[in-house]
Amino acid sequence: MTPHAHGHHSHHSHGHAHSSTAMEPDWEALAANLERDAELKVSFLEEAAAWLRDLLCHREVTRVLDLGSGPGVTTTALAHAFPGAETVAVDSTPALLERARARAEREGLASRITIREAELPADLPDLGTAELIWTSNVVHHFGDQRAALETFAGALRPGGVLAVREGGLPTRFLPRDIGIGRPGLQARLDVAEEDWFAAMRTELPGHTRTVEDWPALLVAAGLAPTGSRTFLTDLSAPLDPVARAHVRARVERFRDGLADSLSAEDLATLDTLLDDASPDGILRRPDVFYLTATTVHTAVRT
Ligand SMILES: C[S@@+](CC[C@H](N)C(=O)[O-])C[C@H]1O[C@@H](n2cnc3c(N)ncnc32)[C@H](O)[C@@H]1O
Repeated sequence: MTPHAHGHHSHHSHGHAHSSTAMEPDWEALAANLERDAELKVSFLEEAAAWLRDLLCHREVTRVLDLGSGPGVTTTALAHAFPGAETVAVDSTPALLERARARAEREGLASRITIREAELPADLPDLGTAELIWTSNVVHHFGDQRAALETFAGALRPGGVLAVREGGLPTRFLPRDIGIGRPGLQARLDVAEEDWFAAMRTELPGHTRTVEDWPALLVAAGLAPTGSRTFLTDLSAPLDPVARAHVRARVERFRDGLADSLSAEDLATLDTLLDDASPDGILRRPDVFYLTATTVHTAVRT
């Protein structure tokens, strides 16, 4: 499940056929949000990168692919973790790649980070091979997730590792009872988002229903699993203004994107949470936190 859902004005498309669907996120519109989301979880990225370095300790790593890099927060974290490698940010959204390029420059990594605009998984053969392929929150945007993983696995050099970030736990940011509306709002938001997500997947070109057993899918792609790990992002209340703004933006997307599936009472609660003048609003209430668990599944080409 992703926090970026609910872009209803998408012009983005998957695959060369450019058959876009109404439910695919508008990645460009979500750029600042994606970047801030990844920045809030930067400690996760550093921990995950250290783990990948351990998994690859017997192998020289000269090339890393970040497939669906978005704004490149992951790309630069990987480039820092693998100083002997060229790290390639691959994405289909030019505006996001522009952010990745700017970030690489800011962090003094421009000479080691390559930016490649590509439509995945179709363009993968043009991207060459790597000892580490990382793909975070991207596979679930492909109609056939199993086939996409097979394609990705095919670009691994012998001894190379594929790391797939999928699953984990939904983000929590409010107490069960927030003093307004019916308690348990976040659980109901989860249900509405799951339904939205399932419908979004059904509309993807070439949609194929798959059991989302990620280690088993990596085996089906011809790889040997090397473990799944879950990393906690735990920002406790009171949140700093950046994290608070991030939560507010998320609530706004729930309000806009899930209006059809929520009760009038829950929509009224969301309106109050979005009222920046109200002491019950996200920007002013003291109890807003940010807690999430992010899972990464890994496997090696033996
Ligand atoms: C949820 S974002 C994840 C960004 C980043 N990996 C992260 O975890 O922060 C999904 C990314 O996949 C990219 N994407 C979606 N469909 C794609 C496709 N068919 N080919 C290449 N990139 C794609 C989007 O542009 C977006 O940057």
